[in-house]
Amino acid sequence: MTGLAQIRSTFLDFFRKQGHEVVASSPLVPRNDPTLMFANSGMVQFKNVFTGAEKRPYKRATTAQKCVRAGGKHNDLDNVGYTARHHTFFEMLGYFSFGDYFKPAAIEWAWTLVTKEYGLPKDRLTVTVFSEDDDAFGLWKKIAGLPESRIIRIPTSDNFWAMGDTGPCGPCSEIFFDHGDKIPGGPPGSADADGDRFIEIWNLVFMQFEQVTKEERIALPKPSIDTGMGLERISAVLQGTHDNYETDLFRSLIAAIVEETSVPAEGKYKASNRVIADHLRASAFLIADGVLPSNEGRGYVVRRIMRRAMRHAELLGVKEPLMWKLVPALVREMGGAYPELSRAEALIEETLKLEETRFRKTLERGLRILDEESGALGQGDVFSGETAFKLYDTYGFPLDLTQDALKPRGIAVDTDTFGRAMAKQREDARQAWKGSGEARTDTIWFDIRERIGATEFLGYDTEKAEGVITTMVADGKEVSELKQGAKGTLVLNQTPFYGESGGQTGDHGVVRTAGSALFRVTDTQKRLGDLIIHQGVVEKGAFKQGDAVELDVDHARRSGNRQHHSATHLLHEALRETLGSHVAQKGSLVEPDRLRFDFSHNKAMSAEEIGAVEARAAGHAGNPAQRADACPGDVDRGGEALGRRDALRREIWR
Ligand code: SER
Repeated sequence: MTGLAQIRSTFLDFFRKQGHEVVASSPLVPRNDPTLMFANSGMVQFKNVFTGAEKRPYKRATTAQKCVRAGGKHNDLDNVGYTARHHTFFEMLGYFSFGDYFKPAAIEWAWTLVTKEYGLPKDRLTVTVFSEDDDAFGLWKKIAGLPESRIIRIPTSDNFWAMGDTGPCGPCSEIFFDHGDKIPGGPPGSADADGDRFIEIWNLVFMQFEQVTKEERIALPKPSIDTGMGLERISAVLQGTHDNYETDLFRSLIAAIVEETSVPAEGKYKASNRVIADHLRASAFLIADGVLPSNEGRGYVVRRIMRRAMRHAELLGVKEPLMWKLVPALVREMGGAYPELSRAEALIEETLKLEETRFRKTLERGLRILDEESGALGQGDVFSGETAFKLYDTYGFPLDLTQDALKPRGIAVDTDTFGRAMAKQREDARQAWKGSGEARTDTIWFDIRERIGATEFLGYDTEKAEGVITTMVADGKEVSELKQGAKGTLVLNQTPFYGESGGQTGDHGVVRTAGSALFRVTDTQKRLGDLIIHQGVVEKGAFKQGDAVELDVDHARRSGNRQHHSATHLLHEALRETLGSHVAQKGSLVEPDRLRFDFSHNKAMSAEEIGAVEARAAGHAGNPAQRADACPGDVDRGGEALGRRDALRREIWR
């Protein structure tokens, strides 16, 4: 068996031959699940298919799914670099049955793939089953012919898989590869199971339940199958190593780093090389899926990942931005399987370079403070939470970056004091706001923004998504319910609705619950920069805080807005070409059926000039490059580079 790409395609081909539809990976930001931060396994895109809420034209599917486990229930960030198998980004190979076949076929195919297609020797394989699952125990014995001693019953949650606090779940059965007694570690369930000898390569989940709330678990309409195999792990096994970072893909990425830094891959800087290679993948794939670094939510996760990598680049002695230079190597390795990565190459490079350039300004000074303040500390000591907060607040060091820097010396951080300093800063900001004499409703938005954070905007690449209602406002007050006929405002954790800004009017559309309540959105606005609020009226039923809802943007209106938004760029360019490069935009208004463009020029335009501008603008309309220029609508979000980056992002998703 050769490279990772072939291992991936062997898997997909095998299940295609067994009647499975080969389905593309979903984006890392789940569109169909408002509770998850990132897709963390292959089943996420099929969540509603398992529960019966969504129908697809197939009952069997197979995928290679992009996953990120760095935030939320499954978070591996802290371990990356120091272990042989943790990643922030990884690919999960899976096959799925939606109420079609169940345990016997699932076990049979998994066994055939592993032993015949991948050719792993049977005597190196051990499986686990959930302790009560006699059925699975019997099937492994019969189908695989494994002795009972190598079918281990596990009574813990390790063998009961759940996507998150809610969602489909069920008992599972895992396949382990034994790397042999040269490597320390014991079989699953034993005291030294955490060693590197027995490695889980595949998890077969027998999906039978849906966790509806923390307390309530119901049966799925039909038993189903969800399986997940980490591509990096199986590749390590097939390439004769127990270390994922020794596989062909990681070797290439690390070689690209070594090429830039001239620091050896092994030895003192091994962990740093690995952190950079791993974090490069996570950052690049997240950016390609529209997650840009910010101080909130998903954007903050990508920022933390990027900054952690940048500190490790600093450890390698790199003085210039490094990550962005590695993007071509990554695209070479993975752009074939994930075309979105190739499409977003320019955006990824630009985003990384900008973040690296900005952070570099404070990184060195922050690291000096960190060294000085921790100089006298040793193994088992605790680093000051106040200094950690200062590093966060003044030098842009995410808490986990400070923790990561001190971890190799066995020094912990006083996170309680850090947390208190953070809370105090929020309170001070709130007081300052209250004292500024703003209207009562603005104080409401400030409080809401502080409590629930920014709204995640999903609308660059979708006009439909799910979200959870985080709060509602009516008559200037927060309310827990909005009944039929009530006018009010909905705030959600995420939304595809565009909030009015930069002269572009907000989206209209509808918000629905599964119980068919309907809220008509008649305007979308932004508050405090990144809180998106949906104004409108409840036309049917009632809405409560915490409701999961479907959001649907009025497509015709959005398209009109989009066209007129693009037209402002064309007009700007045509004006500059006709009247001269002094022409600067002073403002604009973008509506579904018209636009207004304000600009500076020292005299009224002649009829000929107007005709020339019209002809030029029409000529540019076919040229997408013209539309990717600095985006005036984004000037309020922080300057030309950011504007251009956002414009690029729009181009990619258009
Ligand atoms: N959902 C299961 C897992 O992530 C199997 O795909 O392990």
